Amino acid sequence: MNQETAEILWNAPAGASVYRIGLSCGSEYARADAGQFATLRLPEESSPLLRRPFSIHRLIRNDGEFQGIEILYKRVGEFTRKLSQAPAGRRIDILGPLGKGFTVTASIKRPALVAGGIGVAPMVFLAEKLIQAGMASDGAVICLGGRSADDVLCAPDFQAMGLKTRITSEDGSIGEKGRVTEALSDWLKDHSPDMVYACGPVPMLDAVSKIAEKQDIACEVSIETVMACGVGACLGCAIKDTRHQSGYGHVCIDGPVFNAARLELTDRH
Ligand SMILES: Cc1cc2nc3c(=O)[nH]c(=O)nc-3n(C[C@H](O)[C@H](O)[C@H](O)COP(=O)(O)OP(=O)(O)OC[C@H]3O[C@@H](n4cnc5c(N)ncnc54)[C@H](O)[C@@H]3O)c2cc1C
Ligand code: FES
Repeated sequence: MNQETAEILWNAPAGASVYRIGLSCGSEYARADAGQFATLRLPEESSPLLRRPFSIHRLIRNDGEFQGIEILYKRVGEFTRKLSQAPAGRRIDILGPLGKGFTVTASIKRPALVAGGIGVAPMVFLAEKLIQAGMASDGAVICLGGRSADDVLCAPDFQAMGLKTRITSEDGSIGEKGRVTEALSDWLKDHSPDMVYACGPVPMLDAVSKIAEKQDIACEVSIETVMACGVGACLGCAIKDTRHQSGYGHVCIDGPVFNAARLELTDRH
């Protein structure tokens, strides 16, 4: 973990209220796991006071040389509004890489990735890591879902990597009409993934973990909670965790990625 002042390399719209920001940060991130995150602060802004957490979307390399990280973010409130207005060249305070990421091993050959809305942010990095670990890209499926076409992000990135892509939207404006969990259930009729990885809203994660449990498939979920410190000091991100001695884990240090079997997600929505 390192705190530094990074330079904004680019900060450009990538959809409705969604942006990609490139940051020139230190080489610790070159060894980051997919699912890890960093917390950001705009140094010259007094508000918001608290740093904000964002997943590593992908590593930036130039001729193989590590340059920094890219973050995919949605404008939802004060910080992300100010961030969306920050131009290339401006400095930003970044702390990371933080937390525990997804398990990636050479034995995972046919995973199902499930992403709801901006929950897709860590999944591009995850797909890259799985391919680097030896997974044949056409062995994997990514189920992408959202309320409407605006919420379905990064499909071309996964297609370029060769993953099978299933797209759903609740209003039917893109892909099949319905929920991303229905696409997963449909996939499971004819396929047996060796792992399910998911990131998105808690009700979606709860549904995905129940589907995986029913079919006896290992499942990891990345949880988003409001975080104050991001480093295990404030206890603000507690989550019921059956494998933790105290009965509670902390999303910022024990997660954000958890084995779904450890968590009780139903009472969080
Ligand atoms: C580990 C982790 C990784 C994340 N990765 C990304 C990412 O890659 N891209 C991205 O766009 N966002 C990500 N988030 C969410 C991001 O941190 C929040 O959107 C951001 O902090 C909002 O700050 P704000 O000041 O703009 O909005 P605020 O004014 O703080 O909040 C605006 C609205 O969003 C809600 N909100 C704020 N934070 C969260 C949260 N964590 N979960 C659910 N609702 C929230 C608030 O309740 C409020 O309704 C991640 C969160 C965590 C914990
Ligand atoms: S955010 Fe402070 S302990 Fe997790």
